[in-house]
Amino acid sequence: MNFPVTRLRRLREHNIVRDLVRENLLTLNDLVMPLFVVEGLSGREEISSMPGQYRYSVKELVEECKRLADAGVRAVILFGIPAQKDPHGSGAWAENGIIQQAMAAIARAVPELLIIGDICLCEYTSHGHCGMIEGERILNDPTLELLARTAVSQVTAGAHMVAPSDMMDGRVGAIREALDEHGFAHVPIMSYAAKYASAYYGPFRDAAESAPQFGDRRSYQMDPANVREALREVELDILEGADLVMVKPALAYMDVIRAVRDTFDVPVACYNVSGEYSMIKAAAARGWLDEPRIVMETLTAMKRAGAQLILSYHTRDVAAWLGR
Ligand code: PBG
Ligand code: ZN
Repeated sequence: MNFPVTRLRRLREHNIVRDLVRENLLTLNDLVMPLFVVEGLSGREEISSMPGQYRYSVKELVEECKRLADAGVRAVILFGIPAQKDPHGSGAWAENGIIQQAMAAIARAVPELLIIGDICLCEYTSHGHCGMIEGERILNDPTLELLARTAVSQVTAGAHMVAPSDMMDGRVGAIREALDEHGFAHVPIMSYAAKYASAYYGPFRDAAESAPQFGDRRSYQMDPANVREALREVELDILEGADLVMVKPALAYMDVIRAVRDTFDVPVACYNVSGEYSMIKAAAARGWLDEPRIVMETLTAMKRAGAQLILSYHTRDVAAWLGR
């Protein structure tokens, strides 16, 4: 039907009509808050490249989790930074490691919060890579057992879900098998399935002290130029037992989110990463952008692109803006 019979502005005239016809709505059920816990830290320290984000001691982390839960946040994903790093990243699966202590403390003090464990070695290895190394090569198969051990140890400590972010081939299958063997068949795996070698991770690497000491991550993370390859990554991870799949980063990869959503029927997550957060914060601090509006618009667009859940550092702010 053509104008003047059809007038699309009719549905935009009244604010309630606009609400009634809205196609996508961001709620706290969609959001996961990432948090950093640092061994040997007392109190908390702000991350200079991520205003409003902090590195926490276990004690401060628990306090922050209580505040988040009170504000309506449902889920957190945790990153641990150990006092000592070694070539194998043994702190990742240490029984009393920093992340294990943090998870146990949160599970005890804030039982209503869902705890997701990021499974990777780069915060724990002295060389800063996500797997074991031999010379300058990142070894795939020997890394799998360490990742599996890390997943079992985090779930033992209190994690309700694990999220492998290393991009080794076969890690989802290895983690699934290890979890099942240890009586954790009920624990879901959210795979960072299509994770790109991205400059958007810069601020995270400051926060997590996880910048590689040599080379870069391009031999294991994906080439930003590729989208069909992302579908192969996702397919393999689903076959290995991934319950949810993630695309990361989000903002510059909306087409990848949409392609994954259209091709597979598992829940799709995306990670609104550190660099995406920092860009908005920097512009907002100068008064160049309206922060609440631009954040809500950006996160809603990620849902529109096909993400059912979003990992975002804005989660705390969104909770405050949405109220309860
Ligand atoms: C660890 C990991 C990274 C992020 C999440 N898990 C960094 C990386 O791969 O270098 C990035 C998150 C962010 O930038 O917010 N493998
Ligand atoms: Zn890593």
